[in-house]
Amino acid sequence: MTLLEGSVGVEDLVLLEPLEQESLLKNLQLRYENREIYTYIGNVLVSVNPYQQLPIYGPEFIAKYWDYTFYELKPHIYALANVSYLSLRDQDRDQCILITGESGAGKTEASKLVMSYVAAVCGKGEQVNSVKEQLLQSNPVLEAFGNAKTIRNNNSSRFGKYMDIEFDFKGSPLGGVITNYLLEKSRVVKQLEGERNFHIFYQLLAGADAQLLKALKLEKDTRNYAYLNRKLSRVDGMDDASNFKAVQRAMAVIGFSEEEIRWVLEVTALVLKLGNVELEDEFQANGISASGIRDRRGVQEIGEMVGLKSEELERALCSRTVETAKEKVVTALSVTQAQYAQDALAKNIYSRLFNWIVNRINESIKVGTGEKKKVMGVLDIYGFEILEDNSFEQFVINYCNEKLQQVFIEMTLKEEQEEYKREGIPWRKVDYFDNGIICNLIEHNQQGILAMLDEECLRPGVVSDSTFLAKLNQLFSKHGHYESKVTQNAQRQYDHTMGLGCFRICHYAGKVTYNVDSFIDKNNDLLFRDLSQAMWKAQHPLLRSLFPEGDPKQASLKRPPTAGSQFKNSVAILMKNLYSKNPSYIRCIKPNEHQQRGQFSLELVAVQVRYLGLLENVRVRRAGFAYRQQYRPFLERYRLLSRSTWPHWNGGDREGVEKVLEELSISSEELAFGKTKIFIRSPRTLFYLEEQRRLRLQQLATLIQKTYRGWRCRTHYQLMRKSQILISAWFRGNMQQKRYGKIKASTLLIQAFVRGWKARKNYRKYFRSGASLILANFIYKSLAQKFLLGLKNSLPASVLDKKWPAAPYRCFSTTNQKLRQLFYQWKGKKFRDQLSPKQVEILREKLCASELFKGKKASYPQSVPIPFHGDYIGLQRNPKLQKLKGGEEGPVLVAETVKKVNRGNGKASSRILLLTKGHVILTDAKNSQAKTVIGLDSVAGVSVTSFKDGLFSLHLSEISSVGSKGDFLLISEHVIELLTRMYQAVLDATQRQLPITVTEEFSVRFKKGSVDVKVTQGPGGAEDSKLSCKKKGSRRLEVAV
Ligand SMILES: Nc1ncnc2c1ncn2[C@@H]1O[C@H](COP(=O)(O)OP(=O)(O)OP(=O)(O)O)[C@@H](O)[C@H]1O
Ligand SMILES: [Mg+2]
Repeated sequence: MTLLEGSVGVEDLVLLEPLEQESLLKNLQLRYENREIYTYIGNVLVSVNPYQQLPIYGPEFIAKYWDYTFYELKPHIYALANVSYLSLRDQDRDQCILITGESGAGKTEASKLVMSYVAAVCGKGEQVNSVKEQLLQSNPVLEAFGNAKTIRNNNSSRFGKYMDIEFDFKGSPLGGVITNYLLEKSRVVKQLEGERNFHIFYQLLAGADAQLLKALKLEKDTRNYAYLNRKLSRVDGMDDASNFKAVQRAMAVIGFSEEEIRWVLEVTALVLKLGNVELEDEFQANGISASGIRDRRGVQEIGEMVGLKSEELERALCSRTVETAKEKVVTALSVTQAQYAQDALAKNIYSRLFNWIVNRINESIKVGTGEKKKVMGVLDIYGFEILEDNSFEQFVINYCNEKLQQVFIEMTLKEEQEEYKREGIPWRKVDYFDNGIICNLIEHNQQGILAMLDEECLRPGVVSDSTFLAKLNQLFSKHGHYESKVTQNAQRQYDHTMGLGCFRICHYAGKVTYNVDSFIDKNNDLLFRDLSQAMWKAQHPLLRSLFPEGDPKQASLKRPPTAGSQFKNSVAILMKNLYSKNPSYIRCIKPNEHQQRGQFSLELVAVQVRYLGLLENVRVRRAGFAYRQQYRPFLERYRLLSRSTWPHWNGGDREGVEKVLEELSISSEELAFGKTKIFIRSPRTLFYLEEQRRLRLQQLATLIQKTYRGWRCRTHYQLMRKSQILISAWFRGNMQQKRYGKIKASTLLIQAFVRGWKARKNYRKYFRSGASLILANFIYKSLAQKFLLGLKNSLPASVLDKKWPAAPYRCFSTTNQKLRQLFYQWKGKKFRDQLSPKQVEILREKLCASELFKGKKASYPQSVPIPFHGDYIGLQRNPKLQKLKGGEEGPVLVAETVKKVNRGNGKASSRILLLTKGHVILTDAKNSQAKTVIGLDSVAGVSVTSFKDGLFSLHLSEISSVGSKGDFLLISEHVIELLTRMYQAVLDATQRQLPITVTEEFSVRFKKGSVDVKVTQGPGGAEDSKLSCKKKGSRRLEVAV
């Protein structure tokens, strides 16, 4: 049966059928071959190293696992991280994730995946992101300094690491603390065949630019360094140079200053250079062997780099000061001793540097003490190791793994079964191997191997590794998990694999034979005081700070704790720490020894499955219950799922839990009610409960939201309503006030008008009504007066003076014009009034002349100033002529000498012309006989020229008595006067207006017919004398004037 459709094998080994080692292995193999590397045993995750990048990581998968619950998706490390994180965030339980497995099984990778998942899902924000970044970036730095290529793993962790990530109440990371365990420092000076020193050395040489290398006095070639394995410098798939850049970047992100980064690199370089210091035998007079330095250049370079006198370093390396309470004795060291000192110094410098780096990181990521925090610990410790030649390091590493297995047993198998017993739950016991006995063998305070080792180290007298082994043999001769040549011999066993200087421990994961060689030394971990003092004297701030015991003031003769006891203590602290937390397990399995993808070695995995106790794990799991919780917290968490317990429950906790579970109709097989706890068999039931709770929470949240929103809307509405009423009240009030104001103002105005009107009506008589009109009139009048008076003073002196003053205001301009007209008329009238009748007569004649000739005849203007004389021949003195005119007709109007143009030839002859009121009389000048008398009534018209000449034609009507002779063509010197008077005479006599035609061509009717007269102006003007008439033919007369 599978939880998910289409899953490969079973995803949870609890469901495996039949449950045997073989089927378990086959299931793992089947899944592995289908690239399913993760499998559950309940909440324990089994991970098989794929040795290839699988497409199951990254943000997309993180999001997926964040959204689903544990059993809804395929088994994954993200699911485990998710459960752990949620438990921390929501249930406020500190967590620890224990990652165990052999070297190369994938623990470090797993820890990084857990960290990256948690970093991706926990809170966000600038501050939080920088904390996350610092936590994540601690990995590359620690791996560079603490990991190395081994035969088993190209990136093997050579130190143990436990990292506490600390969160605030919201689940956002605040920082963390890293604890490191026992760095495998022997690697600094010596590596096995096919292994490398710590990565950083290779990274530094490959990645540093020329300038940095020069500053550190290093050369690029790794073969130049004695501490680096000369045969192996590169690891496939590992780019040391780019990793170096990444490490530098990571250090900067964590908060290392540039100076600190430089110091770290200088100290690293120092270790490399120290390895190259060659020691040689030196002659001493006393015959005791002594050592010296072959080539001082290296020492000098070191001295220059860290500010230390080279002699000082040389002395520290090649001699030793033994100090007692009383005296100081300096002894020379043999070459072997000096080399030992040299290596010890290198190892110490490096391991202390490593500790310093961890502390420095902790300083950056540490959290203030005041804050309440939740903790998630991730333990990635070196895996169980069985080498060909196992030494002290493997011993402590395996001890640590043994302890972790113990935690696993205690917290899963043992604790589980004991709890069932405590709670009175019916239970079938499952056998499992309890490794407490092995742990005891190693760590027992008085009778443990570590205690023996310490005792041996501290014991005065001759101590050596073999005395230590002898002690063990003696003490553990009967111990079931201890073996050595001696115990074997005693039991008559023959085992050629067991060396003389070896002992063997049957660890939970298998038997490991340890060579006791250098156990004592390594446990002592002593550094000659001369060396630490020399280091302390260096000017280099970091190097100096690594050796505080070198300070003579602090020097104490007390021995520092041994490496073994230190390790044991730190493991004890770790265990205490782990026990206080809610554990999650990742059991890493290595599928093959060759770091090959797709290879699944059944034997190798079988061993691991066995020692990891996976089968027992499944059995306990199957027999037991996946989840348990005390009634009170359980009820608190789930009581919202039942109507009887929510929102109030007054009964007991257990009854409450029963009620809740009953209401959810969870089958009784799934449940067991202990004394203090409720047990739930399958995780699915728990997930069901969780899911129900989630849904219910949503409902409740909606309810709260609904209620809150309702309340908010109501209060808001009420507030709005109140405000609206207030506003409208104010508005209406204001509007009415305004209206009232308007009405009042209007009323007042009307009242005022009416009152005014009434008052005016009543009191009109008292008023100077029309005062303004009067005033205006007055002003107008005064202006007019002023204008008129001014005009009066500047009137033109005579009619002929046309200069008339302009009107001062435009309103007077018409008046002014009129006045001007009046003035001139008045002036004219005045002039006329003073005239005598005679003068009037003269002027009337002149006026008539002007009407007749003005603008028509050229001689007119000359005639104007000359008064009409009338008599130009002295008629008074000529009685004959007087007789001619006939007395009854009154005075002669005109008497003058004219010329008559002859009709026949055009020649002129003088005649006297008399014009009376009734006639025109023409006489001969000599005989004063009236030749022709023409009644004015028979004068039909007159033609004159427009020139200055005096020619004129009298056209007679045909019926006249003289008409038979025809018209007269006459020339007069006073033609204007003559014709004017003739015109008046005709008018007076006949009431007829005499037609006077001004023309240059006219026809004159004569007796024989009419003659066309054409008058032309000659060049000489129009004097009579010059007037010449020429007859052209009988019908045409040309007159030149
Ligand atoms: N999940 C994985 N996906 C891909 N490769 C992996 C995975 N886990 C492990 N590996 C590969 O296996 C190698 C060894 O893994 P890792 O360094 O995590 O082992 P380890 O258990 O920490 O070993 P050690 O105890 O020596 O430190 C990694 O360098 C990587 O190449
Ligand atoms: Mg590792």
